[in-house]
Amino acid sequence: MPRRLRMMTRRRFLDQMGRASACLAYAGALPLGIGGCAMTVPFAPFERTGSGLSLPLAAFDGTDGVLLEVPDRPAPVYVHRDGSGQFTAVLTLCTHQGCTAVPQGPRIVCPCHGSTYASDGTVLQGPAEQSLFRYPVRIEGERIRIELNPAEDV
Ligand code: FES
Repeated sequence: MPRRLRMMTRRRFLDQMGRASACLAYAGALPLGIGGCAMTVPFAPFERTGSGLSLPLAAFDGTDGVLLEVPDRPAPVYVHRDGSGQFTAVLTLCTHQGCTAVPQGPRIVCPCHGSTYASDGTVLQGPAEQSLFRYPVRIEGERIRIELNPAEDV
């Protein structure tokens, strides 16, 4: 077998192994724990309010991050609270080639080629070069409001 063909085969194998392990991690993020994995990041209910989303601060009881399944967005929105109580919201659509990235601890990891982002969407490791799309977030009383701009993230 030509050397170049062997290298392509190994690369493809490693790529597929990465996808498989990340799929298991993503299954673990689903609310029902599909695949027998423990739940890591719960999906939270929210309300659409005008051009944004609203969810109660109580959604963060017992967790520092929640996922929002927004019907007209290509991937879940990940809302994270950092150690100082600041909230960020990012679209989990990987900026490399558009796979859905998965929150894993303090990072968001893409299962397709391994791009890794901080919880605020900043790229920590490529191949992605651009940060995840970030939404403005503000606190209104006991609720969190996330502004969606339909022209920018889809
Ligand atoms: Fe996410 Fe390639 S699509 S790293």
